[in-house]
Amino acid sequence: MPKFDRHIFVCGNIRPAGNPRGCCDPTGGAELQKLFKRKLAERGLKGRVRANQSGCLDQCEHGPNVVVYPEAVWYGGVTLADVDEIVETHIIGGRPVTRLMLKDECLNTKDCEHRDPTSKRLAQNS
Ligand code: FES
Ligand SMILES: [Zn+2]
Repeated sequence: MPKFDRHIFVCGNIRPAGNPRGCCDPTGGAELQKLFKRKLAERGLKGRVRANQSGCLDQCEHGPNVVVYPEAVWYGGVTLADVDEIVETHIIGGRPVTRLMLKDECLNTKDCEHRDPTSKRLAQNS
């Protein structure tokens, strides 16, 4: 069987309501990951591109978060309405959807403007 061309990791982490960091899948329904999976299958990409539900990707304040490997393109604030565009434009067309990409100054830093400094202590325990 050939290797996968790409993996799409879709954060499915759930935290209790009121957690200062929020979470990417408050309802726990994994709807975003399921829709990616369905669209990939519809476009004949099953076995070449896989949409995996992931645990917390530690970019919670920007969620729902999705990352596409191997190119390591990070998307934030992804909704069900964005799935088609990501699949068509990025996965099939090879052009990342820039309007949804996390800014470099937000990615993997505890100091971005969206992160509440008072949540750091709580986040360490999550
Ligand atoms: S809960 Fe999704 S990145 Fe942390
Ligand atoms: Zn940010």
